[in-house]
Amino acid sequence: MSTGRSSWGSNGGFLLAAIGSAIGLGNVWRFSYMAYQYGGGAFLVPYVVALFVAGIPIIIIEYGLGHKEKGSSPLSFARINRRFEWLGWWMPVVAMFGIMLYYSVVIGWCVNYLVFSFHLDWGGDPQGFFFKQFLQISPSAAVIGGIRLPIALSTFLVWVSCWLICSRDIRHGIERASVVFMPVLFLLTIILVLWSLSLDGARDAIMNHYLHADWSKINIFAADPAVRGEAGRVWAAAFGQIFFTLSLGFGIMITYASYLPAKSDIGKNALVTALVNCLYSFVAGFAVFGVVGFMAKHQGVAFGQAIKGGPQLAFVVYPKAISLLPSMNVLFGVIFFLMLIIAGLTSGVSLVEAFVCAVTDKFDWPRGRVVFLVCLAGFLGSLIFTSRGGLYFLDIADHFITNYGLVIGGLLECLIVGWVLKASILRAHINLLGTRIPALWDFFIRYSTPAVLAYLLYLSLAADLGRNYGGYPAGQLIIYGVGWMLVCLVLALALTLYPWKAGKLKRRHRPEEDKLLV
Ligand code: ALA
Repeated sequence: MSTGRSSWGSNGGFLLAAIGSAIGLGNVWRFSYMAYQYGGGAFLVPYVVALFVAGIPIIIIEYGLGHKEKGSSPLSFARINRRFEWLGWWMPVVAMFGIMLYYSVVIGWCVNYLVFSFHLDWGGDPQGFFFKQFLQISPSAAVIGGIRLPIALSTFLVWVSCWLICSRDIRHGIERASVVFMPVLFLLTIILVLWSLSLDGARDAIMNHYLHADWSKINIFAADPAVRGEAGRVWAAAFGQIFFTLSLGFGIMITYASYLPAKSDIGKNALVTALVNCLYSFVAGFAVFGVVGFMAKHQGVAFGQAIKGGPQLAFVVYPKAISLLPSMNVLFGVIFFLMLIIAGLTSGVSLVEAFVCAVTDKFDWPRGRVVFLVCLAGFLGSLIFTSRGGLYFLDIADHFITNYGLVIGGLLECLIVGWVLKASILRAHINLLGTRIPALWDFFIRYSTPAVLAYLLYLSLAADLGRNYGGYPAGQLIIYGVGWMLVCLVLALALTLYPWKAGKLKRRHRPEEDKLLV
């Protein structure tokens, strides 16, 4: 290849890898719990609005930018203007050190639970098992409390898998893994959804809690300020979820698109990735609501009492439901945790790749060595989340990184591409390649998407300043949340300061593309 960059073997392989990055742990438990907590079917309204106002416009930016500049996010932004390179670093640094450090630990928990599934080790008290026996959770975030060896070991396995997959070039590593893993993931999900729908109590839960809309929860125009405030939170959460689920603001989609050949339909690829990912979340929601509905009915409790959020949904509620199943409990448990491991791993490798590609682009070090060092550093960094206080750190880091880190990245990305590179120039590049993007997109990324994201940041900030997130003391929020983000920022700035090799920022056209662009 004339550019010297590795490339995808096929567009299908690229799509499977990009969809694999998008579909992750966030689609299964994050989406379903949010849907329940934030008004059932009514949550789908801000979710779909967020998809069209921010998700699709920004995924088009990321694919278009990576393809046009043929580089990881720092290289792409530096090629627009060296002043913006820091943002190009901020995104993969946040992906790698803000998210992957805890994301790998959660995949590690899934590995542990896959093993527990064979003997339903959680017994009759999955809650006690998860918190007391498995996590041995410390009394508060102030107590780190030592590393949990079984969790550290499974996390090590996750990092070894990432190392094995990423150390090969994109075509032989991530693409090959995605081509095998993604069909298996879809198959497992379909089996699980159909199985869940057949359970007693599933239908009622789906009709009354998943598809039923509570419009008051999303009414940002309500007369009552309290209702308005809560509705604001719901809208902010929907946008945060769209960023997280589409892997936006991480630098991943820029990097993945940089490996595409010259003639690639960027617009179509962006739409397919976004729609398949969101459809997957919606369909997986049937399995979650169905299983929780079955459990609620079996135990004679209200649905609201049976469902729980965050990690508890996968590691407390599901194990409880698995134990209650009339037959084939082990198989159900194995399928569920295997599904989570695959979903998590195909996202995890993309988080690692965004940072690895950024480092190799800038320093020209051999890929194998970079992947080894990054995975080693990643594993060592993850150890903090394998400690007894790990769940608290994870919860705080996730809140800040998702609500601020990703959204700020997306907002600046819109402004830089919209105003400096010029939206119309990127659109012209994309339109040459296939599916045409309407001129309305320019308006979105220059005005409406940044305005909405700025407003959401304000809403999140107002909510956080009004009430400490999760009831944690302010000091802990500052250290593990704000402090963590500051460390990422310092690292991004330090990496920016290092000079580029002469000529590296000069964009090299592919000969095939030059023909297209005349
Ligand atoms: N997009 C990935 C997820 O939803 C990070 O888990």
